[in-house]
Amino acid sequence: MSTEDSFDQLRTRALASLAEARVDAEIDAWRVEWLGRTDGRVTALLRAVREQPQDQRAAFGQAANGLKSALEEALAAKQDDLKRQALAALSTTQAIDVTLPGRPQPLGRLHPVTQTLRDCLKAFQEMGFRVAEGPEVEWAYYNFDAARIPEDHPARDMWDTIWVNTLIDGERKMLLRTHTTPNQVRVMERTPEPPVRVVVPGKCYRQEATDATHEWMLTQIEGLAVDEGVRMSDLKGVLYEFARKMFGQERKVIFHHSYFPFVEPGVEMAMDCFICRGSGAECKTCHGTGWIEILGAGMVHPEIIDNAGYDSAKHTGFAFGIGVERVALLRWGIEDIRNFYQNDLRFLRQF
Ligand code: PHE
Repeated sequence: MSTEDSFDQLRTRALASLAEARVDAEIDAWRVEWLGRTDGRVTALLRAVREQPQDQRAAFGQAANGLKSALEEALAAKQDDLKRQALAALSTTQAIDVTLPGRPQPLGRLHPVTQTLRDCLKAFQEMGFRVAEGPEVEWAYYNFDAARIPEDHPARDMWDTIWVNTLIDGERKMLLRTHTTPNQVRVMERTPEPPVRVVVPGKCYRQEATDATHEWMLTQIEGLAVDEGVRMSDLKGVLYEFARKMFGQERKVIFHHSYFPFVEPGVEMAMDCFICRGSGAECKTCHGTGWIEILGAGMVHPEIIDNAGYDSAKHTGFAFGIGVERVALLRWGIEDIRNFYQNDLRFLRQF
């Protein structure tokens, strides 16, 4: 039998046995048997080339190499085949139905009051104010006494305070803060020396009979600036700029006298009605007055400056308090404040 014939037979046998392999382990065993680097049959044949008689060596070598590449090719094809079969099996057991409707990815956004709060803070940050925070559960001392609101002061009733029912020395001394004003004193206490220039945002709580303009929870921003030579004109300039940043460059503002125990003098600032521009007797936003009240403010009472360890002979300051929900109501023309916290997505999605 010629060299060629016996190589053909070997190939036939090898391919037949490869065809029978079904799983990876069988294929691997086949590879070791035929192509294994130490004991593989084809490897042995290649090694035997040297031992062939001179005149047959070339033909033998060629045939052995041919056999080797044929088996390698067959092996690669077999492995491919097996992979394809496995994939085909997967696609029947774990098929993806491309005709199913997609799952919606809900798109979130910031609550309108949060958006408004951030815009307000940004307006003040641009004017050099830093943002600070204080506790929502507050000592009566900071909420009232330190702000010059004594025990028998009507403001304590006016705000229908929500007390925390914990007795300390036989008394209730903690409450949900009714305003962010306690942070005036808190910030000064932890700032050894002026200048102070902060805005303090936060939730406040009052036991309200809620209506279209009152909620029992509200968001305020307290502002405080204390330094040498701070004057009423600084207060007016900062708050005027705030109104223009939030409601348009053409805004006008007016200051009326008002009373808050922690400031002297105290004012309320109103801006010209940007809805009716002063022309609508029936305007729901300004009630025909042409002006919209937007915040309370004033010069920090000298007693508070002194109590904080500063010297009121040298240091003066102004403070203001803004109701953020009110700003949000105005900027979007929303009619009822209660919409904000009812979590109705049909309402919230509009902003
Ligand atoms: N704390 C006052 C309120 O809640 C607002 C205010 C703050 C007024 C600072 C003057 C100065 O009504």
